[in-house]
Amino acid sequence: MEKISRTKIVDLLKRTDFGAKVNVKGWVRTRRGSKQVSFVALNDGSTINNVQVVVDLANFDEEMLKLITTGACISVNGTMVESQGSGQKAEIQANEIEILGACDNTYPLQKKGHSLEFLREIAHLRPRTNTFGAVLRIRHHMAMAIHRFFHDKGFFYFHSPIITASDCEGAGQMFQVTTMNLYDLKKDEEGSIKYDDDFFGKQASLTVSGQLEGELAATALGAIYTFGPTFRAENSNTPRHLAEFWMIEPEVAFNDIIDNMNLAEEFIKYCVQWALDNCIDDIKFLNDMFDKGLIERLESVLKEDFVRLPYTEGVAILEKAVADGHKFEFPVFWGADLASEHERYLVETHFKRPVILTDYPKEIKAFYMKQNEDGKTVRAMDVLFPKIGEIIGGSERESDYNKLVTRIEEMEIPMKDMWWYLDTRKFGTCPHSGFGLGFERLLLFVTGMANIRDVIPFPRTPNNAEF
Ligand code: 4AD
Ligand code: MG
Repeated sequence: MEKISRTKIVDLLKRTDFGAKVNVKGWVRTRRGSKQVSFVALNDGSTINNVQVVVDLANFDEEMLKLITTGACISVNGTMVESQGSGQKAEIQANEIEILGACDNTYPLQKKGHSLEFLREIAHLRPRTNTFGAVLRIRHHMAMAIHRFFHDKGFFYFHSPIITASDCEGAGQMFQVTTMNLYDLKKDEEGSIKYDDDFFGKQASLTVSGQLEGELAATALGAIYTFGPTFRAENSNTPRHLAEFWMIEPEVAFNDIIDNMNLAEEFIKYCVQWALDNCIDDIKFLNDMFDKGLIERLESVLKEDFVRLPYTEGVAILEKAVADGHKFEFPVFWGADLASEHERYLVETHFKRPVILTDYPKEIKAFYMKQNEDGKTVRAMDVLFPKIGEIIGGSERESDYNKLVTRIEEMEIPMKDMWWYLDTRKFGTCPHSGFGLGFERLLLFVTGMANIRDVIPFPRTPNNAEF
């Protein structure tokens, strides 16, 4: 075969220099045609769009032609010609074809229209579908948008550790990391496990959040963000929870809760705008296939100011809804941790736009949040989104050493693990704030997918760590 340098299909479909000799490589999506000619839809993952390869059967070896089947990987040298049909502008008249990898009829993606549940069982192959190609390209673009946003604002990308000895959220949902022999655990007289001989010389786990280390960095570099994997052993089998998910956590010295809300709103709008500007082919596909309201919802979030509302007022609205006959699965009362149905009621039914709920009861929030004068609430902020519920959780941080220590004691958090964190409040403490955006929750919103297992390549959930 003549050596012609490869053109990606995304670039080829933009070209108009018809007559040019090109090479494309990719996987056969479909093949149809007649006894004389075949039309092969070829995809190389660079775009959701296929290029049509026209194969004049008389010009090719019969045995080779038999191998052009759905899923096969081929290399095509050909001439770029103007397409006669409606679809794309350019197609390829094949001159030479090489089979790089044949694909027999046991290939599970023969036909279109598999259920998302089935595709989860073949997560190793699902990137080859239109749907997952689209989702994964959007995932990449969102990661780019996030780095661009913070970089342009002068934030530094800070790498918090994955293995840690502290439970940031204090929810006891950590996966333990150990090299101990689980069949022969050393215990002390009281029967507690001895960690002295474990790899780190103490009990260690996978992090649930990079925030605590992020705060150390923010009180040195001014403004930082983390962007990495986080792990939670919460046994919640919901369409919005993963055991392994990615989180973005900005932390800013001198920001109060208002600055924090402004940053969150600007950030999330920037990401949504970026998606519309850079991923519109993929978004249109997902809009048409799964969620006819997707593009409209993305545009409407950009237009609206987010509602900002204290938790207490939010609960009053929900209680009124119940009094007026609205049925929730879980009870609402002041002090309750809101369920996603409550959050979505506020966003979708009551205000019809995103809501930032603030000043939650301290009992349902983490130890590090700044305490309000009322002695009951903390300066927390959750950003609630249509179809998702909580997409961001954050707060102004307690910067007062004594108040923080009192709270740590009240919540019975082991102080010896916290000495380094408390040093930030001892040595030049300052007001500061931050939040965490769940990357997959953002992707749920931007792609319109209904299940968080479908916006990460290999989901980790209870009873599932295949692939
Ligand atoms: O509200 P969370 O627990 O807040 C924190 O971890 C803080 N340390 C953040 C901070 O202030 N720096 O989690 C933050 C976000 C949630 O709003 C949600 O979007 C996402 O992380 N999240 C999950 N996403 C997928 N699966 C899970 N199990 C998640 N738990 C939280
Ligand atoms: Mg939260």
